[in-house]
Amino acid sequence: MCGIFGYVGPKQNAAELVLEGLKKLEYRGYDSWGVGVVEDDPTSSLVNSGLRGVTAKGIAVKKRAGKIGDATVNDMPKSSFAFGHTRWATHGGVTDINAHPHLDCTGTVSVVHNGIVENFEELKEELAKAHHRFVSETDTEIIAHLIEEYLKKYPFEEAVRKTFNRCTGLNAIIAIHSAKRVMVAVRNGSPLVLGFGKNENFVASDASALLSHTREVQFLEDGDMAVVGDTHVELTNVATGKKREVKKLTLNWTMKQAEKGAYPFFMLKEIYEQQAVIKGISHTSIKQIEHLANVIKKSYGTYMVGCGSASYVSLAGSYLFSKIAKRHVNYAIGSEFGYHLDFLTPKSTVIALSQSGETMDILESVKKAKEKGATIVAITNVLGSTLYRIADEKILIGAGPEIAVASTKAVTGKLAILVLLSYALSGKTKEGIRVVTLATESMSKLLEKDSIRRIESLAKKLLKKEHVYVIGRGLSYPASLETAIKIKEISYIHAEGMAAGELKHGPLALVEKGTPCIAFLPDDETYGANLAGAMEMKARGGYVIGISHKNHEVFDYHLPVSDAREATIIPNIVTGQLLSYYLATLKGLDPDKPRNLAKSVTVK
Ligand code: F6R
Repeated sequence: MCGIFGYVGPKQNAAELVLEGLKKLEYRGYDSWGVGVVEDDPTSSLVNSGLRGVTAKGIAVKKRAGKIGDATVNDMPKSSFAFGHTRWATHGGVTDINAHPHLDCTGTVSVVHNGIVENFEELKEELAKAHHRFVSETDTEIIAHLIEEYLKKYPFEEAVRKTFNRCTGLNAIIAIHSAKRVMVAVRNGSPLVLGFGKNENFVASDASALLSHTREVQFLEDGDMAVVGDTHVELTNVATGKKREVKKLTLNWTMKQAEKGAYPFFMLKEIYEQQAVIKGISHTSIKQIEHLANVIKKSYGTYMVGCGSASYVSLAGSYLFSKIAKRHVNYAIGSEFGYHLDFLTPKSTVIALSQSGETMDILESVKKAKEKGATIVAITNVLGSTLYRIADEKILIGAGPEIAVASTKAVTGKLAILVLLSYALSGKTKEGIRVVTLATESMSKLLEKDSIRRIESLAKKLLKKEHVYVIGRGLSYPASLETAIKIKEISYIHAEGMAAGELKHGPLALVEKGTPCIAFLPDDETYGANLAGAMEMKARGGYVIGISHKNHEVFDYHLPVSDAREATIIPNIVTGQLLSYYLATLKGLDPDKPRNLAKSVTVK
């Protein structure tokens, strides 16, 4: 949600550079955007001599409601110091005026902001009494005015520090002043990452936006305040003002990984990357997985927690642990986990699954679990993310940047890790690797031309449908939930995933002639019972789509998926991803950026 990008350095096209950065953050979800530049004074001897002097005239801002699209910023003043924002509206409607950056009364202080200033009404009242004039309905604007107020007594950095400390809630900001060549970036809650270049520095809300400039980064921690200039970065604690060491980290992601290449959409690229991701996990993560198995063996009570697709992976984990490792694990949705906390003791282990490592409900869950003394295990895709840093034990999914909003390769990567972990727990790691390899082989067949054509033709048949049921049992139950979430989020067709046994407890009432019903029928103990579910749908006129290793007369349409034992859930889910992708693209929708959704859900 909301994206921040800032630049200070020798390049004269800072506004364009920032706009490019914002485009890389578009996938996070937004409804308006804006860029602010501190105009370089072309007559300045400092600038002409190559030194970046403090000769700025003012802050020029261009901001618009809607998507960036083909918009440009080449009408903005030439500048080597700029910042920008993609906004996800909270306080105030989606209008040009409410978009960020916001300015103070003098037009010399400007702010971009992620999060919500919870006490903004009280602060606004106080500022109004001091005769500040507000032009927007946002909570962000009060930050700029409060800085202006503190500037009456303090230098800029201190004014920002004092302002941030007055704001309650989870917030991340960059504040700039037209006479100061620094970005003051402060984080509490929403992610911010610093990027270090040669005589230039960056601030962004996501590391993937920095990859075309630098791989040297530092993820800010809650409470960090960074003063970022061309050649220097200073870190302090925003509450105490105490200095903190700058510790750079080199990202193992490449720029190419964050580009679409020949694919029309990131989602398709990411679907095709899944085999390589899983192979990578089987080659490089085994030692860590075995170590994690020992941690779990020692714990009394293991909980898996995730949100959205990651919650379905957690649910699948509970089946895998039971089936393969004969162990009971609890599973909870991130937003519900707070209500399970009473069970936790210092002997508990909480496995938090999150692609981004920034999902607010997950971070809150693990913070509370940590307070209870539980061991926190992170299975995440983002090195240095908040979850990664908080956790006691961690495994990186190694999927490379996942740009499409709908999670694909991180989902199957997490599943591969859980299959391997369950086998490691039962002392049969090598067998686990064989099972996961079967999944990659099954995926290869799925991605062959004929198979893709079949999936695409099915999508054509379903295009006009308003509702789809997806049923499964056992491990195919989370596969059904995952397929349904993908269909609804990118094709906007209502889809309901459910345990097949629940059909006759209610949902069957809605089945009528032609209602599509996707049934997962892998070669396991669920086959017979789930087939009965498909037959129940068929008997009421349902159009049955069987995703299975073999065809059956009850199927109106068959999508073959070859068996991969317990890991069949992986190619099954990939089939659902592909179907959703074609449903979306055939409808002319952009599967990478579904409406109303954001990649990183950093608010509650
Ligand atoms: C669905 C999807 C979301 C995410 C969820 C958690 O396709 O992508 O449901 O899985 O928002 O995100 P992370 O894994 O970053 O915590």
